[in-house]
Amino acid sequence: MHWRERVYCGELTRSQEGREALLMGWVDAIRDHGNLLFIHLRDIKGIVQVVFDPRVSLDSYQRSAALKEEYIVLVKGKVALREKGTENPNIPTGDIEVFAEEMEILSLSKSLPFQISEKAMVFGENIKASPEKVDEDLRLQYRYLDLRRPSMQELLVKRYQIMRCIRDYLGQLNFLEVETPFLTKSTPEGARDYLVPSRIHQGKFYSLPQSPQLFKQLLMMSGMDRYFQIVRCFRDEDLRPNRQPEFTQLDLEASFIDEEFIYEVVEELAARTFALGGIHLRKPFPRMTYEEAMERYGSDRPDLRFGMAFEDVTDIVKDTRYGVFRRITSAGGAVKGFSIRGKADQLSKNVLQNEYAMKIAPSFGARGMTWMKVTGSKLESNIVQFFSESELDRLKERFQAADGDVLILIADLSREMVNKVLSSLRLHLADRLGMMPADCFSPLWVTDFPLFELKDGNLGSQHHPFTMPDRIDFDPSDQKDLITLKSRAYDLVINGEELGGGSIRIHDMGIQRKIFRALELTDEEIEAKFGFFLRALEYGAPPHGGLALGLDRVVAMVLKVPSIRDVIAFPKNRSAYCPLTQAPSLVEESQLKELGLLQPSPRPGMAKARKPAKTEGMPSPAAERITLDRVRHVAKLARLRMTEEEALSYQKDLNDILAYVETLSELDTENVEPMSHVLEMKNVWREDKPRKSDKKESILSNAPVRDGDYYKVPRIIEG
Ligand code: AMO
Repeated sequence: MHWRERVYCGELTRSQEGREALLMGWVDAIRDHGNLLFIHLRDIKGIVQVVFDPRVSLDSYQRSAALKEEYIVLVKGKVALREKGTENPNIPTGDIEVFAEEMEILSLSKSLPFQISEKAMVFGENIKASPEKVDEDLRLQYRYLDLRRPSMQELLVKRYQIMRCIRDYLGQLNFLEVETPFLTKSTPEGARDYLVPSRIHQGKFYSLPQSPQLFKQLLMMSGMDRYFQIVRCFRDEDLRPNRQPEFTQLDLEASFIDEEFIYEVVEELAARTFALGGIHLRKPFPRMTYEEAMERYGSDRPDLRFGMAFEDVTDIVKDTRYGVFRRITSAGGAVKGFSIRGKADQLSKNVLQNEYAMKIAPSFGARGMTWMKVTGSKLESNIVQFFSESELDRLKERFQAADGDVLILIADLSREMVNKVLSSLRLHLADRLGMMPADCFSPLWVTDFPLFELKDGNLGSQHHPFTMPDRIDFDPSDQKDLITLKSRAYDLVINGEELGGGSIRIHDMGIQRKIFRALELTDEEIEAKFGFFLRALEYGAPPHGGLALGLDRVVAMVLKVPSIRDVIAFPKNRSAYCPLTQAPSLVEESQLKELGLLQPSPRPGMAKARKPAKTEGMPSPAAERITLDRVRHVAKLARLRMTEEEALSYQKDLNDILAYVETLSELDTENVEPMSHVLEMKNVWREDKPRKSDKKESILSNAPVRDGDYYKVPRIIEG
């Protein structure tokens, strides 16, 4: 292989005119002109046009007839300037081409499940199909093909540049990159652990880390001063957009610092990484307490690209004649709202009443919604007549309402519900009215979170239990007092997305123990879960703090792509499943035995009835059972629309049935009569007759397409 002489397709320029070039890459596209054959040759750096001309090399020209898309070829040839008028501005090398003198096919390719080529060979010509329209699971199943697309490669290249920028910057600040274990003990971050059974210590499990939290704190106690790591974390949690079961954090920690150090370092880090996407972030980032965020935006991660902050108007409407508000305020409830500046012409009374008040607000949990429009300096709505002039004036003043504004008001006995509904309405309306510009970035630090939260009467840490409280004079058995504690935690939020979070930590064993007690952990539980950590705190722990950024989220935002799956080379799909490797999958029974684990049996006591695996090392029949893809495929054929959850549930049921059927093979059915059989196929008339009263119209009312008295149904199998 002449790899030393190889040059990259995308790096050729007009300055190489007349020189020999050796290229190796994939055939991106082909254009046959009869007497000439053109291809786009693609490698990681880009695309160049190669010309097979019989006058230059008859042999290469003849062999080029065998080329197909995605074949890998070696081409040797001369760089030439393209003739005037034949340049292709779609590609950076569009003003040159390479005339092939030698060509060797290095690898063949089957026909593709979807198109890879993104660049038209002729200027002005459209590319055939957009890969974004390809089913995402198909893209993930053939991820190696999906990643051949230049736009996808560019995302991974940029991701690497962002990681390099982070490493350079933190290196300059004397942060050390240190690796921490994956096979470890549970690190509480609020999700479930992925467990790894131990063969050597049967019955015992490692946990994959939800974050390196405890290890990075131990590194501070080891005197490492400043640590960082670009590290994989594992969390078995409810699926949501922008969550992956394994994801990457930029995790950092420093000793002898306070919050200001973290803000300074992370703001500069964010500014540098966002600059790689051409985005300017203005420093210093604004800060807002958790309480203010919840009161003004109903969310601990407010999107500040647009206003619409909430105002409390309970005091104004408490004596109003409008019964709904009066009843709620007199029972201790709240009335709050926000104003949408200058959008009255885009929100008709019909939309506000029939869509928002009747449907959308109730779908967010509201019992109703009140709206008012400002026209000619007056408030207008279907209920203004119930308010006094002074109430209307005060409402206008509170919202600083001007002509063209729309006020949205929500009343409820629960203040939390008012905030929650207003928060959802705020986002819904801003989205509808195009108030979230894609090229605007609003960073924010949210601070002073409550240390604890109450869930079903039980106290839990809002962040994690190693976060320093704002005061240490608390009694761990006084729940009323505990709930008032604030934490020295901070979240970095940009455009309503939580990109990172961290805190100043507890470095005193006494306080740490008090927190564990407040969480109602017994001494035995504390010892079993965190004994090693508490012991370390006894040997001189420096004051320290840190933060972790969700790197996938940062990269996706910097590169302006909608999903973190786009910036992860091999992500799981929305059901935490990998269509490429089909993980998770069933495993050999022998593996389970070796680990001391029993395969859960479909019926108690049936485990022994399983058939032994046929071939060691090969996937057992069990592993080949119904995949999610097969469920979706059958659903597609049957024209059923299925949510991810339904598909998963069908998959589980079908696999359970198959597992059960497998156990039946061990039953003796020798003399058992079949209980059911397949009916012979024949045409039959329905015995029931339409009643005279049944109208033909109503009988055919569900027919998709009617043609006279016939109705047409879609073909199930398409030709
Ligand atoms: P936290 O749990 O807030 O903090 O996580 C830090 C950041 O990681 C990202 N993130 C995720 N990204 C993708 N998929 C997920 N499932 C996922 N879960 C979290 C978010 C989040 O802000 N140990 C602490 C940090 C510290 O205190 O220093 C921690 O892990 O962007």
